[in-house]
Amino acid sequence: KATEHILAERRDSVVLVSLNRPKALNALCDALTRELTEVLDATDQDDTVAAVVITGSAKAFAAGADIKEMQPKNFVDVYLEDFITSSWERASTVRKPIIAAVSGYALGGGAELAMMCDMIIAAESAKFGQPEITIGVLPGAGGTQRLARAVGKSKAMDMVLTGRVVDAAEAERIGLVARVVPDEELVNEAVAAAKEIAGYSRPAVLLAKESVNRAFESTLAEGLRFERRMFHAAFATEGQSEGMDAFINKREADYTDR
Ligand code: HXC
Repeated sequence: KATEHILAERRDSVVLVSLNRPKALNALCDALTRELTEVLDATDQDDTVAAVVITGSAKAFAAGADIKEMQPKNFVDVYLEDFITSSWERASTVRKPIIAAVSGYALGGGAELAMMCDMIIAAESAKFGQPEITIGVLPGAGGTQRLARAVGKSKAMDMVLTGRVVDAAEAERIGLVARVVPDEELVNEAVAAAKEIAGYSRPAVLLAKESVNRAFESTLAEGLRFERRMFHAAFATEGQSEGMDAFINKREADYTDR
């Protein structure tokens, strides 16, 4: 369903969420982030939804937090309302697979929102940057942390300290995005990837997502132990017996636990 700044539509078991505040290049104002949180809550609770795609418009995925809303705030304002984490981090806690489909600008909070997703598929026009330094602040929704984990220290420092914007080709080269596709194919490619994931055993997908995420929260030894336990757990699912039986019998797997 549509709200003021968000469009959400079904593509089979995938929900395509479009940020829709074109006049401000999808700047993430309070109302937009609240609506985004609501739609992500709803999709996470809906059993008929298997995966989510978040996209923007051709010109901008999102040009960042709303600078006009932020400018008058002082420390006590942002501290007391826990700006920005309280309202923004929902994308990072969605249990289902969530793909960011980025064309045009993904700057500041826009890049941070994309990085909260499980993977980023970029159009050739995509531009990623953390320009907060140019307006007297620093990234506040993961731009120093998720970016550093994604691309390493030197590239993260370059982007965060100079505000340099990287294009899609560079973003792919440094490992920030998973794939780059022509602009006109962006949404279809992202939805197709989401549908592909949605076709697999759902417990296996969620276990796999949880395991990859654990890599960013633990030591290697702990992460490996976690992965092994998740792998063992997969043997309690129908998907495991079905998937392996289908392989052995040279037939297509039909996952009923999706
Ligand atoms: C509020 C914004 C905005 C933003 C663009 N607009 N970005 N409004 N907050 N982040 C508005 C403009 O004011 C303008 O409104 C309209 O969108 C079109 O933008 P233009 O600048 O005219 O477009 P263009 O010349 O094509 O330039 C595009 C742009 C530029 C390069 C993306 O808009 C830009 O630099 N935007 C700011 C990017 C940025 O610094 N993002 C980081 C924000 S800080 P009017 O009314 O004038 O037509 C941040 C912190 C997050 O995200 C930390 C914690 C979450």
